Amino acid sequence: MKRFALLFSIVVAVALAGCGNKQPDSTATTKYVIGMSQCNLGEPWRVQMNNDLKAAASKYPEIKMIFKDAQNNTTTQQSQVKELVDQLVDLIIISPKEALPLTKPVADAMAAGVPVIVLDRRVEGDKYTCFIGGNNELIGEQAGKYMVGLLGGKGNIVELKGLMTSTPAAERHNGFMKGIKGSKIKIVYSADCHWLEPDARREMASALTRFPGADDIAAVYAHNDPSAHGAYTAAKLEGKGRETTIKFIGIDALPHEGVTYVRDKMLNATFQYPTGGSEAIETAMKILNGETVDKDIILGTRVFTSDNVAEGGRAL
Ligand code: FRU
Repeated sequence: MKRFALLFSIVVAVALAGCGNKQPDSTATTKYVIGMSQCNLGEPWRVQMNNDLKAAASKYPEIKMIFKDAQNNTTTQQSQVKELVDQLVDLIIISPKEALPLTKPVADAMAAGVPVIVLDRRVEGDKYTCFIGGNNELIGEQAGKYMVGLLGGKGNIVELKGLMTSTPAAERHNGFMKGIKGSKIKIVYSADCHWLEPDARREMASALTRFPGADDIAAVYAHNDPSAHGAYTAAKLEGKGRETTIKFIGIDALPHEGVTYVRDKMLNATFQYPTGGSEAIETAMKILNGETVDKDIILGTRVFTSDNVAEGGRAL
C-alpha cells in the first residue's frame, strides 16, 4: 500500500487538476496491486482458479490484479516472482509448479517486504505468509478407502501419479497408501504422469500391454481427473472393452470435467479439490488491511459418484 500511495496521490491529483467535471481515471480507485503467479494455464483446473480469483477480486474495486502464466516452466516461474517484487506489487499469490525451486523466490519476496499467499501446491519451510489448499493426504486416504469398497478389498491396480516434485502428488500417494492399508489391493504399475492427460494415456497404454488379461487390472487410481480420463481413453483405444470393466478414480471434480466424467460413467468417482481462488482474495484483503491470518488454511472436499452426482456429491 505504501508503495502505491505516492502513485495513487499523483493519479488523484492529476485527475482532479486536469479533468474539470470529467470522471477521475479508474486507476484512481486502485489501492492495492496483487500479483498472481500461476504455474500454467494449460489445465482446466488452473483456468478455473484464475477465474475464481478474478471473480472474487471484482468485488473489491480497490484491487488491481496482475496475472502471470509460467507455462509449466519452473525457471519462468522463478523469474516471474522476482519480476512481481520488482514491480512493487503489494502482495503475491503463487500457485507453484514445484516445491523446492520456488522456495527461495518466495522467501526473497518476503524478505523484500511483500506478503506471499501460497495456493494449492506448497513450497518448503515456512517463509511465506499463508498457505491455502485442500487436504491432499485426506483426499488420498478417502480415495483409498473408496477403492477398497469398490474392489471388495482385493485386486491389482494402476496408480497414475501427479508430478512428484509437487506436494499434492506425494500427499495424495501417502494418503492413498493409508486408505488401502490392511486390504489385498496391490499397486502393480505406477508412474509419474506430471498431472498431464497425454502422459497418463501413454503410461496406461504401457500398463495395459504389460498386463494384457481381462482381469489383470481391476482399477486405476489417478491423482487428477485429466489423468483418470487419459487412462480411460487408453483402455478404450486398446479395443478390448476393458474401459467397461476397469474402475477409474480421479481427483479435482470440476463440473465440466471430472463431475461430467462421473455422470457419463467414465469414472467411478472423483474427489473435489477446490481451487481456493476466492479464499485467496479474502485472505489477501485481510493481510493488506493489517489483520493476522492463519498460517495454514485448509479447504474441504466432496466425493462424486454415480449415486450422488445428481445431488451435487457428498461432503467428506
Ligand atoms: C492442475 C492440477 C490439478 C491438481 C492440482 C494439484 O495443474 O494438476 O489437476 O489437482 O494441479 O496441484
